[in-house]
Order: sequence, then C-alpha cells, then structure tokens
Amino acid sequence: MSHPVMTAESLTRHYHVSQGFMKPAVTVKALADVSFKLEQGRTLAVVGESGCGKSTLARQLTLIEPPTEGRLQLGDEWVKPGDKAQYKRLRSQVQMVFQNPYASLNPRQKIGHQIGEPLLLNTELSASERKTKVLESLERVGLRPEHHDRYAHMFSGGQRQRIAIARAMVLQPKILVADEPTSALDVSIQAQVLNLFMDLQDQLKTAYVFVSHNLAVVEHIANDVMVMYLGRVVESGPKPTIFANALHPYTQALLSATPSIDPAHRQKKIKIHGELPSPLNPPSGCAFHKRCPLADARCETELPMLRELQGRQVACHHAG
Ligand SMILES: Nc1ncnc2c1ncn2[C@@H]1O[C@H](COP(=O)(O)OP(=O)(O)OP(=O)(O)O)[C@@H](O)[C@H]1O
Ligand SMILES: [Mg+2]
Repeated sequence: MSHPVMTAESLTRHYHVSQGFMKPAVTVKALADVSFKLEQGRTLAVVGESGCGKSTLARQLTLIEPPTEGRLQLGDEWVKPGDKAQYKRLRSQVQMVFQNPYASLNPRQKIGHQIGEPLLLNTELSASERKTKVLESLERVGLRPEHHDRYAHMFSGGQRQRIAIARAMVLQPKILVADEPTSALDVSIQAQVLNLFMDLQDQLKTAYVFVSHNLAVVEHIANDVMVMYLGRVVESGPKPTIFANALHPYTQALLSATPSIDPAHRQKKIKIHGELPSPLNPPSGCAFHKRCPLADARCETELPMLRELQGRQVACHHAG
C-alpha cells in the first residue's frame, strides 16, 4: 500500500448558531468522528442525503475551516490550525471544485486571468510562464486558446465547470475535493464532465474526494465509498464490496432508490420513511433508528461504532 496523500483522523465540526434574541445559542454537530485515508490517484466518494455533512467535510479537507476536533494530514504534514505559512504552502496541494460553476467564477474577469490566479498567489512564475501554464490547463480540460480572453457569461454550464476544473488543476494539486461538481449540469453534459475528471486523474494521478448524492455517478467514478448519515460515517469501504453487498440498512436504502444501478447489484427494496433528523437535536443511540426497518431497543440507546465486517467498516448493531 502506498503512502496516503491525505489522512483524516476523527474530524469533527460543530457550529454554534444563534436561535434569536434572548435565546441561548445551540450547537449543530455537523460532522462527527470522520476518518479515512486517501492514496494517490484514487477516488473516495462521499455520499448521503442533503444535510448529512458532506460540504462541511469538504471544507475541513480543503483547509477552508479548521475542525473542532480531530486532525488532518496532507502528505507527511499534519495540519496545524492557525499556522498561516503552513496553510499557504498546503493550500496549493489541495484544491476544490464547487457545485455551481455560475457562482464560483467572477463575471468581471477574463477566464484566463481566473485560471492563472492560483499561480499568481502561490508561485513565483513570471507572467509569460503563467500564461503558458494557463493555456496548458485550458487544453487539458478541452477548451481552446482563444477562450483565454473571454468572460464566464460567454460559456455554457458544462464549459464553466471545465474552467473551474482548469483553475483547480493549474497548480497540479495532489488532491482535488469536488463538491457535487456535476449536479448543477444538464444530464447530457454530466457524463462528459465526469469523463474529464477521470481522464485528468489518469494523466496527473490526482487523488479525488468526490462528494455526490448520486449513486449512479459514484458507481462510475469511485474506488472507495463513504456513506454518511447525520454527520457520521455509517459504512465505508471499496466500492465493489459496498455496491455488491451493502450491510448498513441506510446504504441499502440509498442503493435501492437508484434505478440505474445494475439490477444484479440491486438488493431487496428498502424504503426509508421520514426526513433526516435535525443535527440540532439528533436522536439518541443510532441516529438512523427512527427510520430504520431493523431498529430495536438497543438502537434507541446505544450508538453503534464502526467495525470491520466483510471487507468494509459498518456502524450498525444488526449488520452481519
Ligand atoms: N456555517 C454553518 N453554521 C451553522 N450550521 C451549519 C453551517 N454549515 C453547515 N451547517 C449545518 O450542518 C449540517 C450539514 O451541512 P452540510 O452543508 O455539510 O450538508 P451537505 O451534506 O453538504 O448537504 P447538501 O447535500 O444539501 O449540500 C446542516 O444541518 C447545516 O445546516
Ligand atoms: Mg453540500
């Protein structure tokens, strides 16, 4: 096993939110105890319903926000929150692509300038060296040199996401964190952009953390899968293992709700009812117990820990 490019250890993030005048602030436990290792050239997909903490995790991994607890290692270096010199150095190793390419690009700057900005901020390259790299980056994502001097509004959604990817890749980061990068795109364009991600990974050996709620996309792109529920990992392991035989009832429900997944891989239909509970007031015991067809008294009181089972980790009292 090669040395991981990223190691997350028990990452936890709480937010204190005001409830209004004269009311006490409350704590949102958006992320709890998330650990994984990511190797060069591999893709870890993070899946789960809206509000389960995927974007919060993405912000911890890209050093946008420090974790409340836990720690993150990039290459050989443990991230030291507050160490500005280290942050500046490490930020060029991990870049992010956001969901919405309309919001992530500046309408007033030429796209060549925007793609080159990370080079300006993080390297000592001259203007002409930067331009060469920007043109290479444009070419890599399937755009042409004449696009350099155009503005974001002159491009389609798919092209804009290519521009955002070119910008994220211009420093050749070791890790790219992509937060739902295709879900705002037209279905016909999604596959092209996914294929671009995969081609770039083949060429540059970048490791991806790929956030998606779409399991068909995950099946296409991931090596490993991490399923989250209310801020915690409930199942994680190699994609083929999990898709062939999910052990957590929540994973089973997500898979059975994805019609395009190979029917041979589809398991018994499991329907979950109700909504994701509020992380302000999470259920006791297993956070999934109120929606789970297998739940019993133990699930109401005892939080299931992740354990090794049949080639993956799963947090369910009834798995196996
Ligand atoms: N800055 C913040 N302050 C307070 N609460 C926050 C903050 N950011 C996120 N949260 C809360 O943390 C929880 C997780 O949010 P997050 O955005 O990570 O979910 P998500 O899985 O990315 O959802 P989606 O699929 O809708 O993008 C939510 O309950 C959200 O309201
Ligand atoms: Mg999100």
